[in-house]
Amino acid sequence: MCGIVGYIGSRDVPSVLLGSLWRLEYRGYDSSGIAVISNSELIVRKVPGKLSELEELIKRKPVSGELGIGHTRWATHGLPQENNTHPLLDCNEEIALVVNGIIENYLSLKDELEAKGHIFRSLTDSEVIVHLIEEHAGKGLTEAVRLAVKKLTGNFAFAVIKISERNKIVCARHDAPLICCYSEKEAAVASDMSGVVSIFDEVIDIPNDSIVVLGRGKCSITNFQGREVKFTRRKVTIAVKDIDKGHYPHFMLKEIYEQPKVLHNIVSERIIDSRIQLGEELSISEEELKKISRIVIQACGTSWHAGLVGKYIIEKFARIHTEVDISSEFRYRDAVLDSDTLIMAISQSGETADTIAGLREAKVKFLKVLSLVNVLQSSIHRESDGIIGIMAGPEIGVASTKAYTAEIVNLYFLALHLGILRGFVSRAQLKEHFSALMKVPEQVEQILKLDSDIKAIAEIFCNSRDFLFLGRGLNYATALEGALKLKEISYINATGYAAGEMKHGPIALIDHKMPVVCVNPRSSVYEKMLSNIQEVVARKGIPISVVTKGDRRTKGASKHVIPIPECHECVSPILAVIPLQLLAYHIATLKELDVDRPRNLAKSVTVE
Ligand code: M6R
Repeated sequence: MCGIVGYIGSRDVPSVLLGSLWRLEYRGYDSSGIAVISNSELIVRKVPGKLSELEELIKRKPVSGELGIGHTRWATHGLPQENNTHPLLDCNEEIALVVNGIIENYLSLKDELEAKGHIFRSLTDSEVIVHLIEEHAGKGLTEAVRLAVKKLTGNFAFAVIKISERNKIVCARHDAPLICCYSEKEAAVASDMSGVVSIFDEVIDIPNDSIVVLGRGKCSITNFQGREVKFTRRKVTIAVKDIDKGHYPHFMLKEIYEQPKVLHNIVSERIIDSRIQLGEELSISEEELKKISRIVIQACGTSWHAGLVGKYIIEKFARIHTEVDISSEFRYRDAVLDSDTLIMAISQSGETADTIAGLREAKVKFLKVLSLVNVLQSSIHRESDGIIGIMAGPEIGVASTKAYTAEIVNLYFLALHLGILRGFVSRAQLKEHFSALMKVPEQVEQILKLDSDIKAIAEIFCNSRDFLFLGRGLNYATALEGALKLKEISYINATGYAAGEMKHGPIALIDHKMPVVCVNPRSSVYEKMLSNIQEVVARKGIPISVVTKGDRRTKGASKHVIPIPECHECVSPILAVIPLQLLAYHIATLKELDVDRPRNLAKSVTVE
């Protein structure tokens, strides 16, 4: 949700800002802009639309300056049009501001400010901040920011510059991500590490509820009350190559193809000397884990789907009652939670607003939170009692792929670990599971070799209006995930359903034009799923089935089949989702859609 950047130093300021915005574009891409201060002048360039259009504009109308800020927007309030595009300016056009977040009390603040004579130019909630700062500008930019943040409710991270104080960028954060870095000659701020990776080796995670003043060789951090906050730096843990597309046309495809390597790394890190290692940051003792009587997993989107697989395997291996909730529901439902309940958050970004809120809901009730998180030092990482790193590496494609399979493998290890602690998994069974998991990277490689066959299926169905995805048991989540992948990047109406539930409603959708993706690898519910496929056939639906290699019966009932290797039932959700990721990818590219920048979406959903 919106990427913000700022830079002060001797490099070419617009180029640095644009470079950073390109790396943060995955956070939002409805519109973008920069503001630079040059010789007592504030110059703004902004455009609705893609970042490439801003780049074109800057080529046509070049700017230069001593410091600047930039923004790439995911619209919450106000259409993506020029007046709503950041940077936003005060009435006198002397202060420029970029914001990520939502100001919940903006309407009342706007009324107050308008009554004092402030002129608003946008429909954004964020604009109140720049006018609040303007109100107190006489006290200096830093103090004005401090007074402004005290009036705001909601969540925000922002950076602001002012013509008359052009030796500094002032930033503030409350419940929205922000990092900064500085050296003797320059300083920068960004929504995340990828915005500064090409300039700095070390970053500072700006503590929540603090204000930062950045200058050349200078960084001071104070809390909202003005007290100094100590900070530490940490190494930049990603390389430019990790966040580049390489030879792939899209990040999504690159990330689908990275899965064998990612899964191999996880399996190698988690199995040490025939034992499970969940990492140093698990931080919840074996005694505490043994006492758990219930687990509540809360997450959003693809991470919620991984949680559904987690429920099945935790209940199966560890016999712990496990619930999975959508974070935006969990946070408001006043769930019954007792002291033996473990709350789990799953999040690739670690910054999903609803998942953070769910985690805080649990902490207020003094419950332990164990999170699976990919982005280290993200809010979820910092606020959880224990962490299991997802280890998928940076995921840029808005459609999550490698994080999903990595989440499942980590949940698998957690479930086995709990199973051993509670005496439900024997050493011999553990060995069997290890062997199943160790085969996964190679099996995913084999599935990726079917890419052209899957593309051929995509060619047949890319103009279909609707799709149904069906699965049962562990692969109910695969059906949901396959449908989510397709709808979010191809805009085709795709419904994921538990196959056994089909006859209670969705079966009415099936006719001779309806492709029905049926996930039916060999499993304990194989026969049941096969009957559901027959029900589809009896309504003239078109089954496209994901099957275990050599399965003639499902093949016989299906119009198309995609074979996956023979595997343990519990790893089948990892393998079965790969063809569905590729199917969605090819359908979207055949429709000439922007796979990495699907409409209305953003990678990191930092607003409620
Ligand atoms: O970063 P998170 O895992 O918390 O993100 C959750 C969802 O926003 C995310 O999975 C979303 O559904 C993806 N676009 C799915 O591909």
